Amino acid sequence: LRWTDPISSADRYFKMFPQEKTPIWSNPCIDARHRTILPPAFNCSNFTLPNVLIVGPQKTGTTALGQFLSLHPNASTNLPVNDSFEELQFFGGKHYENGLEWYIDKFSPSSTVFEKSATYFDNTEAPIQVFTLIPNAKIVVVLYDPALRAYSWFQHIKAHNDSVALSVSTMDEVLEADDGPLKKLRSRCISGGRYVYHLDRWLEYFPSSQMVFVDGEMFKERPPIVMNKLIADLELPSFDYHNVLRFSPSKGFWCSLTKGKMNCLGKGKGRHYEPMSETLRTKLNKIFQPDNAALQKILQKLHLPMPKWLRSSLYNTK
Ligand code: A3P
Repeated sequence: LRWTDPISSADRYFKMFPQEKTPIWSNPCIDARHRTILPPAFNCSNFTLPNVLIVGPQKTGTTALGQFLSLHPNASTNLPVNDSFEELQFFGGKHYENGLEWYIDKFSPSSTVFEKSATYFDNTEAPIQVFTLIPNAKIVVVLYDPALRAYSWFQHIKAHNDSVALSVSTMDEVLEADDGPLKKLRSRCISGGRYVYHLDRWLEYFPSSQMVFVDGEMFKERPPIVMNKLIADLELPSFDYHNVLRFSPSKGFWCSLTKGKMNCLGKGKGRHYEPMSETLRTKLNKIFQPDNAALQKILQKLHLPMPKWLRSSLYNTK
């Protein structure tokens, strides 16, 4: 062995293993080798990491789910951040490079500490990064009809003045695209709804006992029932959500009720737009048919209930 200085040996190493250039943070308070290299200010006795992650997908009701879960007296979440739509988007995102201290700084101790970033679900790096740091965390996934999710996503980017989305009059035109920016937009609308494709990556790391599935349609329609079940799955003390959630006729969605005051999500969540046409619904059901059939198989294998939307979308594409 020849001695070289650390910089040139690192240079050599990363030339040989370029895929390892991004660090993978593990819990330094578990691994004694890591503890010894921590800065003195880093204190393992007040080191808080989430033990529940709501990973998405986007446009399935994750914001409302996070808001409602934080009503539970034993659950706490991260401090809000200004950028990235108030989500931390740490795993698989640009903030990962800010390091562990950036992340843990956002949490305070509680029996259940959760984080919601809907970008994690379909991010290729997120499962391994989450597992390396918080291997015992429960992973919450919302399963919402992917056809409605794709339509909601299309409305979302239109509302954000995406020029490609604004260039078409209906989403049908996006589905017909076979090249150029419209094809890219088509894949952005569709890809997040390919649930099994993304789930497989999570199940590579996490046992199914740590995965918690929420039926997104039922959540939208009857959130008190879904929340009562969710907190049981998360092993939180019982807390009756019928007392803290109310349907708001003006919003058209359920809202939280604290100290007699209704608190609904902002206008970007629960938008008002034309309902999906029957022809678009048929096209989207056909696109998602193979993924939905695979999802049905996984749920059956795990002895989990089948959402109503899944049964009817498969029935309608027979
Ligand atoms: P739309 O705005 O298209 O209706 P996310 O928070 O994951 O981005 O999901 C946004 C979607 O959550 C909304 O999409 C809406 O349909 C759904 N949702 C479910 N429950 C809601 C609630 N109580 N308030 C607002 N939106 C809710």
